[in-house]
Amino acid sequence: MKDFAITNIKNLVGVWEQSPTKPLRGNDLANLPLLPDAWIAIQDGIISDYGQGVLPHKYNELPHLDAQGGHVLPCYVDSHTHIVYAACREQEFVARIKGQTYEEIAANGGGILNSANRVAAATEDELFKSAFERLILCANQGTGAIEIKSGYGLNTDSELKMLRVIKRLKDVSPIPIKATFLGAHAFPLEYKQNQQAYIDIIINEMLPQIAANNLADYIDVFCDRGFFNVEQTRQLLQAGKQYGLKGKIHGNELGLTGGVQAAVAENAISVDHLEHTSNEEINLLANSETIGTMLPSTAFFLGIPYPNARGLIKGGAAVCLASDFNPGSSPSGRMSFVISLACIKMKMTPAEAINAATVNAAFALEMQNELGTITRGKLGKLIITKPISSLDFLPYNFGGDIIEKIL
Ligand code: NIG
Ligand code: FE
Repeated sequence: MKDFAITNIKNLVGVWEQSPTKPLRGNDLANLPLLPDAWIAIQDGIISDYGQGVLPHKYNELPHLDAQGGHVLPCYVDSHTHIVYAACREQEFVARIKGQTYEEIAANGGGILNSANRVAAATEDELFKSAFERLILCANQGTGAIEIKSGYGLNTDSELKMLRVIKRLKDVSPIPIKATFLGAHAFPLEYKQNQQAYIDIIINEMLPQIAANNLADYIDVFCDRGFFNVEQTRQLLQAGKQYGLKGKIHGNELGLTGGVQAAVAENAISVDHLEHTSNEEINLLANSETIGTMLPSTAFFLGIPYPNARGLIKGGAAVCLASDFNPGSSPSGRMSFVISLACIKMKMTPAEAINAATVNAAFALEMQNELGTITRGKLGKLIITKPISSLDFLPYNFGGDIIEKIL
């Protein structure tokens, strides 16, 4: 549906006459402007107008949707996922229940390497079909734009195969997609003793082909203990820049391992995870343009510490929230649960969490001009909720479903 009006809205959420030009930081993150008793008009898929009270006559010919007192908010932006994969990893989930750690499983050839073996054995069509199902699941749960990473290939053929799948998804997806090349997700077993050889393959073989076929928007590196170190990460991000790919980093998941330092030094768009931060990391981020992406469902699923959201916000870092949907550390793309965890476990207020999952997340995908707020000219990708007493009910109702309709 490209032309319609929604009437009888209890609160239009995240309404900005002028969209913020920078991610919201500090106290501003709590600024979630509401327009009560509202209507909104969408024309040609774009928010053309909104206001209070009765829908103006000039929009009478548009098909009407009665929100019946529900709230209307901009769709979530999920800026960090790995939804192209060939098999789930519930055996590792059980191994962790029985006492093994995520790092031990990875060090023994499980984890990312397990997924890489499964991707290598899968056809492009198989990968496409299952990823498309996950994409639709996310869209039906309120995600209005999504980032998808490669990174379960770990050789040139398989990485390119994954990125071609993401490109095919872009062609048929109901929501915009950004593709991220994550060849540096882990060292394949055969390169564990000769890490530079694998980095050379990424730089000299993978990147040129990816750029020639326009297969990625960003480059990402897992900069952490047992994975890529700071120097290797910076080398890879610099190589990506040569091909016009801006950087994203998986960092500070397993310790204070320099991910933030690498991200800020390379002016990365975002550094994601941040389960471990000290004052040094917070100050560095606060004085940079790099966005700190927090992935609370990963901390929940792995039983690791949650990011220090209060410290990051108070310190002035720009933060956003994403799902990290992947088979090993977060097998869910439900952004409403991410928001609930952010409130329950990280003491973010509902307004802060919703802003972090919408407007700030849009910046993390450089889609702030299209998504993240209710602003004239942006895409009409909206969530209509069931009639709820207040917006605070959204995170309060954890695991529940308050979505009436997705547009
Ligand atoms: O973001 N931490 C690194 N990468 C993914 C998990 C990958 C996996 O376990 O399959 C993450 O959590
Ligand atoms: Fe991830």
